Amino acid sequence: MQLENKVVIITGAGSGIGAATAILLAKHKALVIVSDINSENAEKVADAIKKAGGKAIAFQADVSRFEEVESLIRSTIKEHGTLDVMVNNAGIGGKNLKKTAEHTLEDWDNVIAVNQTGVFYCMKVALQQMMKQGHGNIINIASLAGLKPSGNNLSYSASKFAVVGMTKSAALEYGRKNIRINAVCPGYTHSSLLDKLLAGRPDMEETLKRLIPMDRFGEPDEIAEAVAWLASDNSKYMTGQTLILDGGTSLQ
Ligand SMILES: NC(=O)c1ccc[n+]([C@@H]2O[C@H](COP(=O)([O-])OP(=O)(O)OC[C@H]3O[C@@H](n4cnc5c(N)ncnc54)[C@H](O)[C@@H]3O)[C@@H](O)[C@H]2O)c1
Repeated sequence: MQLENKVVIITGAGSGIGAATAILLAKHKALVIVSDINSENAEKVADAIKKAGGKAIAFQADVSRFEEVESLIRSTIKEHGTLDVMVNNAGIGGKNLKKTAEHTLEDWDNVIAVNQTGVFYCMKVALQQMMKQGHGNIINIASLAGLKPSGNNLSYSASKFAVVGMTKSAALEYGRKNIRINAVCPGYTHSSLLDKLLAGRPDMEETLKRLIPMDRFGEPDEIAEAVAWLASDNSKYMTGQTLILDGGTSLQ
């Protein structure tokens, strides 16, 4: 895969899918800015990459704060001169899984701020730089929940449908500017986000697995493979698309 020396920022890269993506892209010789709101986790991932001979820098940033997104992207440009790939992966789920009438305002505000507004902030600032340099590649981590309805999770569903919409609309705007924008839509994937969903509901694991024709959850490194392909020049004719990795869940 053609990723050598690409400068890549990954948000939410301190754990789960983001961490697996950072490790894989570094193995392919990209320089990875491992960004997360949790600086300790970001440092751990960056250290593991460096120990394995890769290039990584940890950077703490909360994607729901515009000034922190600006600082993340500006400092990357200052240090490395370019931003080739922006992976907008940071995301959270709601705390209370309740139907819409009972959905809390707190969950709504928090989930939309990170999953939707955060992706907008990152795309806005990254695109300003990508326009200046004349090339760019953005990968947004949406979800199967951004393509199909899901109950008891309205803010998450709204935010992920928004990520798919923003991906397609921005891809239309920037196709002629040598900037590609795609989304990856994972189904249920082992991570702390899924652990939180299953916490205290041991019955739910089996219920969810029944929805998956391949009869198992995905692994973060399986999602990372798709992100790596989109980040590489191997996918250079692809823009505005959603790549689904869900063990067949979306077939039914
Ligand atoms: N795990 C799944 O089943 C699944 C399915 C579909 C989509 N996704 C999406 O994949 C992405 C990664 O999630 P994951 O499953 O690896 O979960 P995860 O909880 O392991 O990772 C999410 C990371 O985002 C970071 N983060 C949270 N809020 C942040 C903020 N405001 N600013 C910066 N970083 C922040 C967290 O610290 C964490 O390191 C998310 O966008 C999630 O919605 C996950």
